[in-house]
Amino acid sequence: MNTNTKSEANTYIANNVRYDSMTYKRTGKSGILLPAISLGLWHNFGFVDDINNGRDILRTAFDLGITHIDLANNYGPPPGSAEENFGTILKQDFKPYRDELFIATKAGYGMWSGPYGDFGSRKYLISSLDQSLKRMGLDYVDVFYHHRPDPDTPLEETMGALADIVRQGKALYAGISNYGPEDTQKAAELLKELNVPFILNQARYSMFDRWVEDGLLETLKDNGVGCIAFSPLAQGMLTDKYLNGIPKNSRAGNDSVFLNAEIVSDNIEKIKKLNAIASNREQKLSQMAIAWILRQPQVASVLVGASSSNQLKENVKALDCLDFSEDELQLIDEIIK
Ligand SMILES: NC(=O)c1ccc[n+]([C@@H]2O[C@H](COP(=O)([O-])OP(=O)(O)OC[C@H]3O[C@@H](n4cnc5c(N)ncnc54)[C@H](OP(=O)(O)O)[C@@H]3O)[C@@H](O)[C@H]2O)c1
Repeated sequence: MNTNTKSEANTYIANNVRYDSMTYKRTGKSGILLPAISLGLWHNFGFVDDINNGRDILRTAFDLGITHIDLANNYGPPPGSAEENFGTILKQDFKPYRDELFIATKAGYGMWSGPYGDFGSRKYLISSLDQSLKRMGLDYVDVFYHHRPDPDTPLEETMGALADIVRQGKALYAGISNYGPEDTQKAAELLKELNVPFILNQARYSMFDRWVEDGLLETLKDNGVGCIAFSPLAQGMLTDKYLNGIPKNSRAGNDSVFLNAEIVSDNIEKIKKLNAIASNREQKLSQMAIAWILRQPQVASVLVGASSSNQLKENVKALDCLDFSEDELQLIDEIIK
């Protein structure tokens, strides 16, 4: 229970033109259409954060046609608190809209002590999803992911657990995350044998991290599976936020292992050059960074994070200018190589 901030809900009525301007893309060869931009709750939704800001971001997202919300068991901090806060907001604001939402959660990183709260055993995945459903107050999630490959558990066991979760109706679709091309191929074959709808691999992809272009997108295409790209803004570096130093109130300003002053400083020259290209396109750098990912047909959705609803509004405007000239693409390649 969040004791840090009081949740103050006034009645929410969703924007009635919310589906007019969002683009929806098919994920792989499935029946599911995802918004080209989805919202992730890794940061800004834990008990340490202001739940009313979280509520504002979620309302803004839904009003913009963002139907897909991404969570994981360990999001917070503390772990589990993002799901719990999301559950509170869901109950107060989005209950009438449950069937308009596509909600994801995951298990695969360390969640509780002892040998059964980490990696990829059947024991971990099934009990973790039961906990997640309770925290969110849901009967089922739309997609459940194995969060990262487990080198020690047979893939048959992990995929078997995903299959049973889907058969039990606790998730409608199965997904994997952070799996490379080879493991993705094996997972796809196993899930096909098990007759389980496998629709997404969630993978890090941005101008600063292009690993998915080395075989993963091709493997996903061969198997009719979609890609959803996480950390598309390299956690905020691919925006105009760090052009003039590191604001205190920013992810790098909080000095995490994932993003800190040193990482920003290593990339700042590239960021400035990319920002100049974005300006020539009459676009913000954040918008160009998102559009650049959406040029890949296998990417069903770009999964952004936001610490304010204004950031999300800015990011969604990426959809107003998605095309790149060959010259622009080449210039970008030269900067980020
Ligand atoms: N499967 C996995 O292993 C995995 C791993 C990581 C993430 N994910 C998923 O992907 C989601 C997105 O990841 P991410 O949060 O790293 O994505 P991101 O979009 O690259 O970074 C989001 C952060 O960038 C800053 N930002 C966003 N828009 C901005 C704008 N217009 N102007 C200035 N700053 C802006 C904000 O940080 P400030 O606090 O600095 O404002 C925001 O929290 C996560 O929430 C999670 O759902 C999955």
